[in-house]
Amino acid sequence: MSLDIDPSVKPHERLAAYLEDDMVAVNLLIRERMASKHAPRIPEVTAHLVEAGGKRLRPMLTLAAARMLGYDGDNHLKLAATVEFIHTATLLHDDVVDESEQRRGRPTANLLWDNKSSVLVGDYLFARSFQLMTDTGSLDVLRILSNAAATIAEGEVLQLTAAANLSTTEDIYIQVVRGKTAALFAAACEVGGVISAAPETQITALSTYGDALGIAFQIADDLLDYGGDTGATGKNIGDDFRERKLTLPVIKAIARADEDERAFWKRTIEKGDQQDGDLDQALALIAKHGTMVETREDALFWSAKAKDAMAVLPEHPVRDMLSDLADYVVARIS
Ligand code: IPE
Ligand code: IPE
Ligand code: MG
Ligand code: MG
Repeated sequence: MSLDIDPSVKPHERLAAYLEDDMVAVNLLIRERMASKHAPRIPEVTAHLVEAGGKRLRPMLTLAAARMLGYDGDNHLKLAATVEFIHTATLLHDDVVDESEQRRGRPTANLLWDNKSSVLVGDYLFARSFQLMTDTGSLDVLRILSNAAATIAEGEVLQLTAAANLSTTEDIYIQVVRGKTAALFAAACEVGGVISAAPETQITALSTYGDALGIAFQIADDLLDYGGDTGATGKNIGDDFRERKLTLPVIKAIARADEDERAFWKRTIEKGDQQDGDLDQALALIAKHGTMVETREDALFWSAKAKDAMAVLPEHPVRDMLSDLADYVVARIS
């Protein structure tokens, strides 16, 4: 792939091309470590998800950080694979929790096999991720990634208990997103800096970049749940509404609701009594109050914060690509 600035080549594709050798090695490692001698269901399920692709954003962040900071060992490959295993495990679990039917443009594993397989294979991938990170011999890396795994679970559980609760605030939403999504982005970046023995200020900057990028990314993802198209996202529209999940477009619309509108949100989100046409009505209220536009502005704020964090990092082509990536996660909702 050409590395020239071609606008049709997305920043994550440009990064993948720049880091191609490492990405190939990581994909090999993923394939190798997702195998199981004793339970054929494991490779069936993991292959289904892994072969579907996925953007490999998080492993790319680890590789990018290591490259930018001049790391010359091979632990970055193990860490990148670790991060993608943690991600894949959380997706398997998340699709069970969310009762989702589509992932990466394919039917979800819970739909093709069952919830039991998804939960157990997710556990297997988590365990595999711990083996991989242990292989690096770095306690710092173990601490960062195991913290991230715990934080993701916390975020998912917080979201579970906030669902259907109309008094969920924007602060709680950000707390959920920071946990379930941004923690892994931040850790992926941070471990790349740690193995490169970068100065503390740079490691902190990487973590700040990943945190803000992850938040911008999830805000955009949640926005697409009301405004994207299934063909482009590989996921269904309106899932969050059906699951009674409070994301920014709805939290902001509820804050502006008049009495009738509040009754609508109470019935559909709080009580979960949803009928045909309710999703359209929710979309109409979101449009009426302009909360898609406002949500997009929030995503832009976090994207700018991610880019600002890069200032203390060394000048490097990868740094520019990471900066473009922060623009891109928001550009997909413009
Ligand atoms: C999906 O992440 C889960 C969220 C945090 C929204 P990605 O959109 O990075 O998923 P893949 O790996 O590319 O499928
Ligand atoms: C993604 O969360 C899963 C995690 C970050 C653990 P969501 O449930 O919001 O994302 P999608 O829409 O299923 O990818
Ligand atoms: Mg989900
Ligand atoms: Mg979810």
